[in-house]
Amino acid sequence: MIKKNIVVAAVCLMALAGCNTSPSSGKAGDDVEKKVASLLSQMTLEEKIGQMVQQNPPYDAAGIDAMKEQIRQGRIGSLLNVVGAREVNELQRIAVQESRLGIPLIIGRDVIHGFRTIFPIPLGMAASWNEELVREAAAISAKEAASMGIRWTFTPMVDVSRDPRWGRIAESGGEDPLVNAMVARAMVQGLQGDDMSRPDRIAACVKHYVGYGAAEGGRDYNTTLIPDLYLHNVYLPPFKEAVKAGAATFMSAFNDINGVPASGNRQAIRDILKASYGFDGFVVSDWGSITEMIAHGFSADEKEAAFHGLNAGVDMEMASLSYSHHIKSLLDEGRVKMAWIDDAVARILRIKFRLGLFDQPYTSETLADSVLVHPNHLAVARRLAAESVVLLKNNSNLLPLKKGTPVALIGPLVNEPYEQLGTWVFDGKAENSVTVLTAMNEANGAGNTFFAEGLKYSRDKSTAGFRAAEQAIAKAQVVVAVMGEESILSGEAKCLAELKLPGKQAELLQLAASKGKPVVLVVMAGRPTGLAPLHHLADAILYAWHPGTMAGPALADLIFGDVVPSGKLPVTFPKGEGQIPIYYAHKNSGRPASAESWMHIDSIPVHAVQHSTGNTNHTLDYGFTPLYPFGYGLSYTTFAYSDIRLSASDMKQGGNVTASAIITNTGNVTATEVVQLYIRDLTGTYTRPVRELKGFERVTLAAGESKTVSFELGNDQLGYYFPDGRYVVEPGKFQVWIAPNAAEGTPQDLTLE
Ligand code: BGC
Repeated sequence: MIKKNIVVAAVCLMALAGCNTSPSSGKAGDDVEKKVASLLSQMTLEEKIGQMVQQNPPYDAAGIDAMKEQIRQGRIGSLLNVVGAREVNELQRIAVQESRLGIPLIIGRDVIHGFRTIFPIPLGMAASWNEELVREAAAISAKEAASMGIRWTFTPMVDVSRDPRWGRIAESGGEDPLVNAMVARAMVQGLQGDDMSRPDRIAACVKHYVGYGAAEGGRDYNTTLIPDLYLHNVYLPPFKEAVKAGAATFMSAFNDINGVPASGNRQAIRDILKASYGFDGFVVSDWGSITEMIAHGFSADEKEAAFHGLNAGVDMEMASLSYSHHIKSLLDEGRVKMAWIDDAVARILRIKFRLGLFDQPYTSETLADSVLVHPNHLAVARRLAAESVVLLKNNSNLLPLKKGTPVALIGPLVNEPYEQLGTWVFDGKAENSVTVLTAMNEANGAGNTFFAEGLKYSRDKSTAGFRAAEQAIAKAQVVVAVMGEESILSGEAKCLAELKLPGKQAELLQLAASKGKPVVLVVMAGRPTGLAPLHHLADAILYAWHPGTMAGPALADLIFGDVVPSGKLPVTFPKGEGQIPIYYAHKNSGRPASAESWMHIDSIPVHAVQHSTGNTNHTLDYGFTPLYPFGYGLSYTTFAYSDIRLSASDMKQGGNVTASAIITNTGNVTATEVVQLYIRDLTGTYTRPVRELKGFERVTLAAGESKTVSFELGNDQLGYYFPDGRYVVEPGKFQVWIAPNAAEGTPQDLTLE
């Protein structure tokens, strides 16, 4: 009772401080700031430290009771992984009604690509290049998660990644800063909306700040070496974009960057993110990443780790307890400043106010049933899954198939409702999934579909099922093989040295190809897999990533041409692991490779005299081109690019030039093309990449239709960051492409005076 009175008093105090609008307006503003200041002024040091602690609930009853007592004492500000409106409400009630100041908890959860309705993995979403649709999917994720009491999620992950061995490439937007920035913007806006206090909106957490995707050797958690030039031009831009989009929170990464762990990196967090980008939300550590600074060899012990985390500007500690154990003594010793603690707590309270948690800490306990996997959500999941698929190959226009064609469905992922969901799925359920088998039976008629998986799961090494697969193939005209990786083979800590399809899938594909019938290979995977040795075996390849709940209908839509493929690769596909890293925005080097310069290893004469074969930047076995370039993807139609031009060939700094091209659908079906704008800055104070993506647009054209697509080029596109973080636009010569991918097109010349 007494505690309740204190809560009321606190609210009145806030009212006296001039809060005349709703305390949870959800928008930044003076009233929120006044409320934050007022509340902060009433807090004890212990309560302040409590706000900086995020815990995962223990599994035993005694542990849960102890956790509840800590909430009551104001020693925990946030929990993760509590799910369910009733469960959340119960804990929230303790925080709001039984703690001295009644500060609500903020409850977080990994809702990475959907809550119950599962969308394609983020790499797949990126392959759609459809910002609006990704935003819509994120809004649905927010609505479903919020109906279960979750008001904060640890997504989007916008770690630029140029290494398909790294399991977490699945969670990223791929290799390019601009595509990752698109994902960052779409996800933040979709999750948070304009007003986070709405009950169907939740706070985003942009991760992993920063450089995590550069893990050496593609091995998770590994060290990263990132020159400042690359930090500012490659790794930071998506995070900067997320700040611009209003992201509520950031997560500090596990990795060490050039010798300083990201979670103890004052320059990255305090100087760049908070001071330079003006981020006013809070930073949470990744799970245990504060105390892991001991293993990194950066902090001597837990107390030192707490110092390093807070010094760097990490406001809330996830899972480990160094803040809870040591901030008080660090303050007593004068090693940390009260101002740092106040700033951290103010940031956390600010987001709690913006989320409207003070006004409405509880979640309706009857909402979820009508929200989860709503048919409208499934319809968006189906569209996004279809738009994320990339058609890599389509010999003799094998696809689309005519409905009613006898089809053999083989492969370990044809009928795997759980595996099609992909990594980081905690709340999606296999029972909601529609598999390729179910959807093909429906679309093609069960009598025309002959199913024999051949392998029970992707890593299966037994060929016992091959006979049945052969029998299915014998009855069909076309083989559709659905292969790839199970969900558990990509994502956190799921790195691979070899990208080949696991188990005996290559053998099964070989068997299918030997029967003389056309083969469509559908790949469901969390990364670019090693297709090079296999890709001649398939006549058509649909690269589907892990498409989510509606994988089956989306793929059937594509296979039968109800939807025309429009996805494009957000990451380069290497010919083999030895080519990694390979990415389109590489430097030219002093000896750039060309078709003329490359000499294949087998064409070198035996006993050749010593010479530098070709003298260029290539390997003797793979050459210098990838298997598939960034931005690549086919359609069931063809597009012609014509009249590519610049409105002027000279421009002054601060001015604008328009780059335009006429895009014509030269085929027979309405289809969408992702038109891409690239530039190259030919000389600079620092060498610049051979191409950089600066814009893209999805255009839908009816058969025979043409449209002019234009892009503005100005300072925002033509400059780059110097290593000290300054954005500089340097005069000089540029090349500009409007092209269907990073490997095609004819450049236009532009001079910047
Ligand atoms: C991951 C984060 C995730 C966190 C909470 C960590 O292991 O790196 O991405 O959000 O766990 O589950």
